[in-house]
Amino acid sequence: MSKGIFITGTDTGIGKTFVAVGLIKAMRERGLNVCPMKPVETGCRIRDGEPVPEDALKLINASGINEPVDAINPYRLRHPLAPSVAAEIEGVKISGKKILSAYNKLSRKYDLVIIEGAGGIMAPVYKKYLFLDLAKDLDLPVVIVSRPGLGTINHSLLTIEAARHKGLNVFGVIINYAVKTKKGLPEKTAPEVIERLGGAPVLGVVPYTEKPGNSRLDKIFNRIASLLQKQTVSVYKL
Ligand SMILES: Nc1ncnc2c1ncn2[C@@H]1O[C@H](COP(=O)(O)OP(=O)(O)O)[C@@H](O)[C@H]1O
Ligand SMILES: [Mg+2]
Repeated sequence: MSKGIFITGTDTGIGKTFVAVGLIKAMRERGLNVCPMKPVETGCRIRDGEPVPEDALKLINASGINEPVDAINPYRLRHPLAPSVAAEIEGVKISGKKILSAYNKLSRKYDLVIIEGAGGIMAPVYKKYLFLDLAKDLDLPVVIVSRPGLGTINHSLLTIEAARHKGLNVFGVIINYAVKTKKGLPEKTAPEVIERLGGAPVLGVVPYTEKPGNSRLDKIFNRIASLLQKQTVSVYKL
């Protein structure tokens, strides 16, 4: 059976990469040989005529693995658009089979593969094929990164609902402070409501942190990694 976790978010810019990097480091600390994957990256800036997949590079750097970038990130596109839209404009044909076979290779080699989508779970990968279809075909449980403030109950529940409707296993929600925010009533009350109405655990709350790599943040990611590892063990018998 494949072993992986699909990191999605309620939106783009929500902190999927930030959280994935923290989790990869924490999983490594826990002794797991973790490999990242970023199947499609859009909005790549061009350097020396080549698109640079910044998310994929951050993930590779956090994992310390030695793999060609193509193995981790089969598709990189220039336009900051949903993958299917960017691919169409750039004349690239995205193949779900190619992504699946890249994932299968990695999952055979590593204890755990942490996959970051692009945008939210209903962002299109190509044509009508959405990230939730990809998570389903990869047979992966999902972790949802959400905003802390007003509106997050709605966005989190919508994402949970869409994932479950597709038959995906929702491991839980991670609330991430991607921007500096005062903790008001919406931030204080949302986690409990998401858990109760969504029937999925809030695995942790990640504070806004200008300089990651401090012990407070490490502890938070370590705790989330431990919760995820428990769920992963029960699913994958790791
Ligand atoms: N907890 C956090 N503390 C500080 N900055 C954060 C945090 N989470 C995300 N960011 C910053 O917010 C921006 C968007 O986050 P990113 O992980 O790239 O989002 P996504 O992968 O969902 O598009 C990045 O500049 C990232 O460094
Ligand atoms: Mg990202």
